[in-house]
Amino acid sequence: MNTLPGHPHFAYRGDVLHVEDVALDALAREYGTPLFVYSKASMLEALGAYQRGFAGRKSKIHYAMKANSSLAILQVFARAGCGFDIVSGGELERALAAGAKGEDIIFSGVGKSRAEMRRALDAGIACFNVESEAELEVLSEVAVAAGKTAPVSLRVNPNVDPQTHPYISTGLKGNKFGVAHERALQTYRRAAELPGLHVVGIDFHIGSQITTQGPYIDAVDKVLDLVEAVEKAGIPLHHIDFGGGLGITYNGEQPPAADALWAELLMRIDQRGFGDRTLMIEPGRSLVGNAGVCVSEVLYLKPGEQKNFCIVDAAMNDLPRPAMYQAFHAVVPVARHDADPHTYDVVGPVCESGDWIGHGRPLNVRPGDHVAVMSAGAYCMSMASNYNTRGRAAEVLVDGSQVHLIRERETAADQMLKERRLP
Ligand code: LLP
Repeated sequence: MNTLPGHPHFAYRGDVLHVEDVALDALAREYGTPLFVYSKASMLEALGAYQRGFAGRKSKIHYAMKANSSLAILQVFARAGCGFDIVSGGELERALAAGAKGEDIIFSGVGKSRAEMRRALDAGIACFNVESEAELEVLSEVAVAAGKTAPVSLRVNPNVDPQTHPYISTGLKGNKFGVAHERALQTYRRAAELPGLHVVGIDFHIGSQITTQGPYIDAVDKVLDLVEAVEKAGIPLHHIDFGGGLGITYNGEQPPAADALWAELLMRIDQRGFGDRTLMIEPGRSLVGNAGVCVSEVLYLKPGEQKNFCIVDAAMNDLPRPAMYQAFHAVVPVARHDADPHTYDVVGPVCESGDWIGHGRPLNVRPGDHVAVMSAGAYCMSMASNYNTRGRAAEVLVDGSQVHLIRERETAADQMLKERRLP
C-alpha cells in the first residue's frame, strides 16, 4: 500500500487509488464524473485528534459547516458529538435537518439579518457570535420583540497576522471581522446593559489554513487579557471560543497536529487560570479537507507550443479554490500506468482562462483516464456554482467497503426549477 501524504485513508493498492476499501475507478464508472468522494474514517480521525486534545475538559467542538455542508457529512459529525458553527439561515436549516438541536448551534458572521436572528432564537441556539455594536443593538431589539433573551459572545479581533492568504485572513485590524480589541471592553459593557441579551462568552477567529502555532499563541494571549478585563468589569464569561483555522497539507505544508497544538495552548490557558471554562472551537477545513477528493475524467490532451493542456471534466465551478486563491491541489492518476509522463496545465471546460486546477503538473495520463484532485473535502462542494449551467457534481461517502451516494448529480432541469419563463 502506498498512502498519499496527508491523506491517511487514500492509498494505491496495486496501481489503483483506493479510498478506504473502495477503488476510485469503480466509483467513477458507477456514478460518473466529476465525483466528490469522502472517507468517513478520515473525518472521524481528524475529529479524534481534537477530541484527544480536549479530553477531560469542559469543551464543545462546533464544526464550521461552511467547509462542507452536505447533509450526510453533517450527520457524521452530529453523530460523533459535534455541534455546528453556522453563518446563515440556510446553514441553520441544514444543521437542523441533519439532526442537530438548537443548543448544539452557534451563529457567526458579520451580517446576520433580523429574519435569521428571529429564526435562530426560535430554534434556541446556544450562542450568537456578535461582530459589531450595531449588530448587538439589532439582536437585542429582535429578542425583546420575540419575548426572548439572546445568548451572546463578542467576536473580538485580536489583530494578529495568521500568515495565510489575504482573502482568508480575518483577525487583522483592516479586516471586516470582529470588534476591535481596544473597543471590546466598552462593547461588552453595552451588551450587558441591553435588555434582550445575556452575555455568555467571547470568541475569535484569526484566519484559515494556518500552518504554524505562533499566531494561535499570540491570539490566545491577547484574548485572555481581555477575558480578565471583561470579568473585572463584572461581566462573567462562561465560555471561550478559539475559532477554527488550523491548516492541512495540500502541498507539503506541515501544520501542527490538532492534539499537539491544543496541548500547548491548554498549558497556557491553565497557567492563566482559565482552564476550567467551557472551551470551544470551530474547526472546518482540518476536519474535512483531506477527507475528500474530486474524481474527474481526462477529456482531451492538447499539446501546445508553450504548454500542454490536460482538459478534464471538473472545472472552476466544482473546484473554485485555484481560481479564487491560487490554491494548490495535488492531481494524481486514479489508475497508474506507464504512458509517457508530460507536464500539463490541468484545466476544466469552463470558458475562462481562470478555469485551471493545476499548473505545470507532471502526469502520465491518456484521454478517458481518471484523475483525483486531492484535498477537495473542504471549500469545494460548499463553494461550487452552476456557472456555464454546469450541474453540481455527485457526492459519495465511503465507510470501509460501504458506499453511500449522498448527493445525486444535479441536472439542467434541477437548475431551471425555480425560474419562470416570460408569458
Ligand atoms: N469560524 C469562523 C468564524 C470562520 O469564519 C471560519 C472560516 C471557520 C470558523 C472555519 O475555519 P477553518 O477551520 O475552516 O479554517 N474558502 C476559503 C476558506 C474561508 C474560511 C472562512 N472562515 C478557502 O477555501 O480557503
